[in-house]
Amino acid sequence: MNTDYLDPVTNPESIAQAGKLLREGEVVGIPTETVYGLAANALDPEAVRKIFHAKGRPSDNPLIVHIAEFDQIYDLVSYLPDDAWQLAAAFWPGPLTMILPKTDRVPEVVSAGLDTVGVRMPSHDLAQKIILAAGVPLAAPSANISGKPSPTSAQHVLSDMKGKISAVVDGGYCEVGVESTVISLVGERPRLLRPGAISLEMLQDVLGVVEVDCAVHQQIDEQTTVSAPGMKYRHYAPEAEVIVVAGTPEETAAYIQRHAEPDAGILCFDEYAAQFIQQDLHTLGAVSNENAHAQQLFDALRLFDSSQATTIYAQCPPEKGIGRAVANRLKKAAGFHVVEV
Ligand code: TXA
Ligand code: MG
Repeated sequence: MNTDYLDPVTNPESIAQAGKLLREGEVVGIPTETVYGLAANALDPEAVRKIFHAKGRPSDNPLIVHIAEFDQIYDLVSYLPDDAWQLAAAFWPGPLTMILPKTDRVPEVVSAGLDTVGVRMPSHDLAQKIILAAGVPLAAPSANISGKPSPTSAQHVLSDMKGKISAVVDGGYCEVGVESTVISLVGERPRLLRPGAISLEMLQDVLGVVEVDCAVHQQIDEQTTVSAPGMKYRHYAPEAEVIVVAGTPEETAAYIQRHAEPDAGILCFDEYAAQFIQQDLHTLGAVSNENAHAQQLFDALRLFDSSQATTIYAQCPPEKGIGRAVANRLKKAAGFHVVEV
């Protein structure tokens, strides 16, 4: 299959072309503010099956459905609890996915047999325009091969998906860099299933009590039933082994300095880069620049795939705000191999 590269900057027809392909049941890589998505018509089971095929995604892992206008939610969701109204008012459009009871219009392949559906209204201008051009809600997981770091540029999408999908729309680098926050609103209390740029603290400000149900401490075996099925799979993993080092930046840098062999890879904050002259190194931005850590994480993990390093030592940001999301992805990339110093 030929994968069309669509650049709205040089070709104003790109959005209409993407919309047409999506209406015809094809899969298109699209930019969002979080990461690139692999989009298809959410109401067309055949089209959605193509997403699972292109990614090599297990069929028991449900997809998020993306809408551009609030009214599109009524086709997808059978009941909107009060919390959903409040969260939509506070954070949509934006990097927040809500798990809600689904209608019969949502095909089983989207929800992986669950009676719920994840819905998100992205804030990215191109994502909104593409959804509107398609005229249907779009199911879209992150546009990586299953298990790889999520893509934050069109080049990342092409490197995983060239020849497997009909087109990719280039929207440059993603502003957020880690996937949306996922919150379940179907239980007794709201439950955070995946941390993201809409932080736990921001959710608590709106909702009060929010339970936290994110797997960050141990690998869950493949047979386990978990709240967000995506949590049980190895994720975000570069080819090399990753060791996450958690603690204050000074302490983690000192630990890595003592333990890293000259042929190791180093993922560190800018301030410590000069300390590791022998090793292959990528940076996460300055210690205090939490947004940069999220923006740069997946690109850095992908860059290590072209390095000789077989072990990567990574400094872990503190687990607050968006740092909770960065730490969560890093620990998953490491298969929960974490050293606390
Ligand atoms: O930022 C994002 O959310 C990106 C962009 C493209 O929008 N999408 C994304 O999709 O990250 P994906 O499929 O890579 O991750 C979706 C996560 C998975 O962990 C999945 O198990 C969980 O959300 N999920 C989806 N639907 C669910 C449902 N009905 N109940 C529980 N978890 C669900
Ligand atoms: Mg994903």
